[in-house]
Amino acid sequence: MELKTLQPLFDLEAMSKATNGNGQAVVSNGLVGQDILSVSQFDPGKLAYIFSRAREMREMVRQVGGTHILNGHVVACLFYEPSTRTSSSFIAAMERLGGSVIPITQGVNFSSVSKGETLPDTIRTLEQYSDVIVLRHPELGSAQVAADYASVPIINAGDGPGEHPTQALLDLFTIQDELGQIDGLKIAMVGDLRHGRTVHSLTKLLQHYDVSLRFVSPEILRMPLTIMNEILDAGMNVRETHDVADVIENADVLYVTRVQKERFADLSQYEDVKNHYEITPELMAKAKEKMIVLHPLPRVGEIHYAVDSDPRAAYFRQVQNGMYIRMALLAAVLGKA
Ligand code: NCD
Repeated sequence: MELKTLQPLFDLEAMSKATNGNGQAVVSNGLVGQDILSVSQFDPGKLAYIFSRAREMREMVRQVGGTHILNGHVVACLFYEPSTRTSSSFIAAMERLGGSVIPITQGVNFSSVSKGETLPDTIRTLEQYSDVIVLRHPELGSAQVAADYASVPIINAGDGPGEHPTQALLDLFTIQDELGQIDGLKIAMVGDLRHGRTVHSLTKLLQHYDVSLRFVSPEILRMPLTIMNEILDAGMNVRETHDVADVIENADVLYVTRVQKERFADLSQYEDVKNHYEITPELMAKAKEKMIVLHPLPRVGEIHYAVDSDPRAAYFRQVQNGMYIRMALLAAVLGKA
């Protein structure tokens, strides 16, 4: 282990050399004290900044495990919906940066929410103890409501079928990291494009790049019209299909998603579409040699376990990147950059 070769974290000189992908220098991250509610807050400059900080975090974790830049800072993780990766990675991120966590992640049923406390009151309570609040909630727009009441930054960790901005950042980071570029790629999204907040956020974020999008879903799970209109207005190349076979040969990225059972008002409709897709080794045999399969996880049958040993299966590497991205974001929002 060569500690002396480690680039100093948050080196101002290195920061001023960060570029936005077009060679333009990024002089300020503009994220200090900000809520993170939607990917629409991120322009290529901010993306380049977060990605370069995330790479530094990765290097630092690999070499020394952690640091103390967020010593004395507290994050409250308030999760009204189940979570494994998002909650654990925010907790690990905060702890590796020397901060502490109020973890309300094992079910708000053990908090005063079960006594009927409202979201605004819960937020106004947690902000008395913490410097930033990470919120996951089943209602669309709930992160904005929390932000309206909070005096500390709110990070949206999923607002129902709305957005999941930190997941989209780690997805994009993974694509760039695995394939070395984003421009020029053919990106296919498969599964529940109607309710999946990760594909909503990723699609919006990809408007900054020259990519072709292929949406693969059953009819009732197509990408919402508002997002389709947004990307068509932006002049993106996009096609929809019901069949993975139509996209597998040309895709550079196959982004697979779970059918979101909890968002169906009529469970018989869920039963009709739940096993619609399965990525198998036979299907992978038709894909490019240099492509990647991503999935925000959890999977419930969309990717066969036999695909896991394929080097193109990048979903667990994607999981790890989530921690580095969240370290970079926490440090940026808390002004430790
Ligand atoms: C996703 C979510 O919660 O939106 N998971 C995650 O955050 N990694 C995807 C899902 O639940 O299907």
